[in-house]
Amino acid sequence: MAEFTPRVFSGIQPSGGLTLGNYLGALKRFADVQDAGVETIYCMVDLHAITVWQDPTALTRATRELCAGFIASGIDPEKSILFNQSQVPAHAQLAWIFNCVARMGWMQRMTQWKDKAGKNTQNASLGLFAYPALMAADILVYHATHVPVGEDQKQHLELTRDIAIKFNNDFGVDFFPETEPVIEGAATRVMSLRDGTKKMSKSDPSDMSRINLTDDADTIAQKIRKARTDAEPLPGDLDGLTARPEARNLVNIYAGLADMSAQQVLNAHGGQQFSAFKPALADLAVDRLSPISAEMSRLMQEPAEIDAILARGAERANTIAAPILKRTYEIVGMVGA
Ligand code: AMP
Ligand code: TRP
Repeated sequence: MAEFTPRVFSGIQPSGGLTLGNYLGALKRFADVQDAGVETIYCMVDLHAITVWQDPTALTRATRELCAGFIASGIDPEKSILFNQSQVPAHAQLAWIFNCVARMGWMQRMTQWKDKAGKNTQNASLGLFAYPALMAADILVYHATHVPVGEDQKQHLELTRDIAIKFNNDFGVDFFPETEPVIEGAATRVMSLRDGTKKMSKSDPSDMSRINLTDDADTIAQKIRKARTDAEPLPGDLDGLTARPEARNLVNIYAGLADMSAQQVLNAHGGQQFSAFKPALADLAVDRLSPISAEMSRLMQEPAEIDAILARGAERANTIAAPILKRTYEIVGMVGA
């Protein structure tokens, strides 16, 4: 295997507001790796968002709000490259090549496709089906080696490796890296506050099921107070959480926000009733999230500033992506590449 310089890439869809799940599973970890000395590239994947219908005005707003969310979570646009996908054409161009490498059967097995397409697959967009090939292109057009994501993206990252391996095999090259997923920490799968077996999601019809990064302090505290729990006190060790998804979720959220392990949270709070643990969690959540929501609203007053950051990021991203696309075209045999 060729040696690849470590490089981190990840993306989030601008398809609605950001939740605590996005923060703990993605944004906070993006900010943490930014300071680890590797190149970090973060993308608002607007081309992925439109695989299901997006109102154009809402898409524009969601893209700016997402960029504000990245910055408010500690991602520094000087240190990291921050841009929106549609402005670096190499993503869509490499995705086409990968559409011709990936097999229908691989795509059909994707659980996100099955969930999002629902029963009526004939009526889903072709883009939704091809979604994982575009995602592989996002990553591989930078020869990214590490991709921090939440647990739900694991299967897509395995497919990204399959595409890289098949391309390398088909063309007899050692050109694309086998990317490593980075799925770490206590909160890679934050669950709904109403149902500990369902993922916290921006698309859940109940707003009480999630904490939005734009929620104010009172709303955050109220949602945690009303979160579903059981009647038992917190256990002293992780085994005691096995059949208690709601309790486990609140412990994991605490751990993620406080930079602790779930066991450390239980060392400190084991034996407590939820009537004591929930206020402690609410205080912690408000303390960590309020500055983010305040900074997001400030930035949202400055759309020109956000647009300039994205434009500059796209230029920098293009500098890395364009030569890798050109070399791909040469490998495939395109005249003029
Ligand atoms: P999405 O909002 O689906 O584009 O997801 C963007 C990033 O947030 C991905 O890395 C997801 O894995 C992560 N993410 C979304 N929801 C959650 C959740 N409930 N728990 C942990 N990570 C999440
Ligand atoms: N599919 C990811 C999600 O829904 C978003 C995404 C698109 C992504 N391209 C990516 C994540 C590349 C990591 C790397 O969360």
